[in-house]
Amino acid sequence: MQVINQIDALRQALWQHRLNGASIAFVPTMGNLHEGHLQLIDRAHEAADIVVASIFVNPLQFGPGEDFNGYPRTFENDQAKLTERGCHILFAPTVDEMYPETQISATVVKVPHLSSIHCGASRPGHFTGVATVVAKLFGIVQPDYAVFGLKDFQQFLVIKQLTEDLCLPLEIIGAPIARAESGLALSSRNGYLSVEELEQAAALYRCLANTRTSIDAGNLNFNELEVAAKADLETAGFTPDYFTVCRQQDLLPASAEDKELVIIAAAYLGQARLIDNLHFQRL
Ligand code: PAJ
Repeated sequence: MQVINQIDALRQALWQHRLNGASIAFVPTMGNLHEGHLQLIDRAHEAADIVVASIFVNPLQFGPGEDFNGYPRTFENDQAKLTERGCHILFAPTVDEMYPETQISATVVKVPHLSSIHCGASRPGHFTGVATVVAKLFGIVQPDYAVFGLKDFQQFLVIKQLTEDLCLPLEIIGAPIARAESGLALSSRNGYLSVEELEQAAALYRCLANTRTSIDAGNLNFNELEVAAKADLETAGFTPDYFTVCRQQDLLPASAEDKELVIIAAAYLGQARLIDNLHFQRL
């Protein structure tokens, strides 16, 4: 695997592959890679000839007081895992390379409605930071495909929307959520949890699964289900942020007529803010 830190050098390397007629699939990450990330690499291999991953902890998407400084950085381990999974190129720029000082008040990419609800309401500016860095990375890599995990369902929709609105010539692929045996969605932030909290954390998925079971059994009083789920989360030791039954296409609250649903949730446990979702077609 080639490791490249500079935009120009990456462009040169990719130019050669394009001349050879190769297609390119791209997997952006912030590193501290786990099996969920690596399954995106597998998916990228299915889509294209050349797989490019990036590792960049993007300061723009962290709010004041969030975990930018403490975010786990495990570059050598990550590099070994990507090599083992057959990734061809790893792009790992510095903050200066991505955001030169001369661009301090530079262009940002904002996806209005989707960025202001759910995680966007709790983390103002977060999705503008994500949309901006992803648009930049797309401009740098110019991939034919980009693979994102459905674990971050709202992020996935933000990126689909920006790609469509800006007429970017690539296809966005959504990959399934990788979970531990307990049901807990794999996440770099699970590393913030103690052994005991890791066990407690599985309650987040259980609450999602129980809510889905109730919906499939015909209970369409979503508000009541949400209140009950938040109470269950509290009993399990979480401080819930939101737990909402939404329409998949725009994340607005679902009504009894909607069939394509996603239950999205965020909750605090110890030092971590965990997010998860279940997307499904109602019976
Ligand atoms: P990061 O949290 O490192 O995640 C990188 C990619 O891995 C995202 O597409 C995310 O949805 C996916 N992912 C994480 N956990 C997963 C799991 N358990 N199952 C499946 N996919 C999973 O998301 C980001 O970084 C950043 O916001 C980024 C898009 C790189 C922009 O900075």
